[in-house]
Amino acid sequence: MQSLNTTSLTLSDNRLWILDQQALPQEKQWRQCDSVEELVDHILTLRVRGAPLIGLSASLLLALLAERGLPREELEQALVTLRASRPTAVNLMNNLDRMKQALAQPQWVPAMVEEALRLVKEDRKLCDRIADHGAELVQPGSRLLTHCNTGGLATAGIGTAIGVLLRAHQQGKVQQVWVDETRPLLQGGRLTAWELGELGIPYRLICDSMAASLMAQGQVDAVWVGADRIAANGDVANKIGTYSLAVLAHYHRIPFYVAAPHTTHDPHCPNGAAIPIEQRAATEVTGVSGSFGSCQWAPADAPVYNPAFDVTPAELISGWVFDSGVITPQQVNDGIFLRALG
Ligand code: MRU
Repeated sequence: MQSLNTTSLTLSDNRLWILDQQALPQEKQWRQCDSVEELVDHILTLRVRGAPLIGLSASLLLALLAERGLPREELEQALVTLRASRPTAVNLMNNLDRMKQALAQPQWVPAMVEEALRLVKEDRKLCDRIADHGAELVQPGSRLLTHCNTGGLATAGIGTAIGVLLRAHQQGKVQQVWVDETRPLLQGGRLTAWELGELGIPYRLICDSMAASLMAQGQVDAVWVGADRIAANGDVANKIGTYSLAVLAHYHRIPFYVAAPHTTHDPHCPNGAAIPIEQRAATEVTGVSGSFGSCQWAPADAPVYNPAFDVTPAELISGWVFDSGVITPQQVNDGIFLRALG
């Protein structure tokens, strides 16, 4: 299979490598990913993470396994196993549906290779288009707040919400980005802070609980987040803490934008209540661990609630920025969300 390089995936000598997102920013460690079991482990531990990237890494691994001669029945089983690895981000299901169609072709090995490479290429383009549309909404001199990580680490391209921030920065419109640290797994503090630093975008890191007072002081001009699944009515599942930001932005009359590729939209899911929300281990809340070390502060047996995502209702969203363009709340009220997307 041809070589390729993204910020967080590498394909060379017919091997897939992933940039370990648990080791960043302390260490830049590339890990080989040779089997379905290995990839599922990387996904479960969030070494590979972010809605688009999960789907792309699964598709590339399947194509490699097909080229290595894995029998069709085993590839079918691999599709099922990978699909079950994380439940919320629908990009994984969408990409695997396309790989399944390729597997159904008479010449399924080249079909799967072509499809996986096409998905990567498409994702890059989708990111660029989202950035073009989103940057038009950014006012000169903006102080923008973002949550979790939505950049090149989470996609094959420049990212979704971070792609918008980058494009707006290139246009000279960004004064500063406020980066939510994003408890419990700190994707903001560890990954977004690192990426914005690499990109030369001025940022300041805050604890999630500081967003309210910043907004009250008039220091946030807009909020930009990504999405893991967007329901047919415009409700959005994204990293836990997104909903609180949307409520805060609404109270302070600050625009709240969601940036995502159309592969994050799930027309079969009627509303946010129907989106499956992944529940994660208690240890993520009772302490922290990573390449910086580990520490537990809560009682080891503390009962914990740890949903990885929450749902922001459509009524709190000022605009859905897709690769195809921006969908406005008015369009959603008129019930043309689906049509506008097509
Ligand atoms: O649990 P994670 O780190 O995979 O969650 C990621 C997010 O919630 C992102 O905002 C979303 O996947 C969009 S990434 C372009």
